[in-house]
Amino acid sequence: MSKTWARAKGVGQGLSGGAWGAGLALLLLAGTATGQTTRVDQGKREFDANCAVCHGSAGKGNGPYVDMLRRSPPDLTTLAKRNAGILPVNRLYETIEGANVPSHGSRDMPIWGTAYRVQAGEYYGEFPYDPVVYVRSRVLALVEYINRLQER
Ligand code: HEC
Repeated sequence: MSKTWARAKGVGQGLSGGAWGAGLALLLLAGTATGQTTRVDQGKREFDANCAVCHGSAGKGNGPYVDMLRRSPPDLTTLAKRNAGILPVNRLYETIEGANVPSHGSRDMPIWGTAYRVQAGEYYGEFPYDPVVYVRSRVLALVEYINRLQER
């Protein structure tokens, strides 16, 4: 027992007292001092740019394009409320990504997975990348933002 304790203690000391911790602290300080830690809200930025035209900037389903659509966009702020208080994450992911939709033309909502796959190439250029990871992170940022839009 004492052996395990000693090892655990050693690890703790190594992390807090070592150059590691100091380096990290410096990095954080440098960031604040130069003001370079401006937080980018990926989900909000994407939502405002590509979703608000139909879903409305607050997700209420009242964007400026609504009159041109065959189907009205649903209110995205009551998704959890309408699902026993739980955000239907998988359904949202699949709807946004669009992989489970057999026919693109039958939906008023564009297929974002396809759009992001194309953008991955533009984003990474010559740099080796995995398009699946890129698409996932973009869709998940949106799901996370929609979670923040929920009425509680
Ligand atoms: C051209 C208009 C339009 C745009 C742009 C659009 N949507 Fe939609 N969205 C709709 C419509 C209409 C529906 C209702 C289902 C359908 O008809 O396809 C919908 C449905 C949804 C749903 C399904 C909600 C549920 O109950 O499962 C989600 C989630 C969603 N949109 C998120 C987004 C996100 C995120 C974006 C931006 C990346 C976006 N939408 C962009 C029109 C749009």
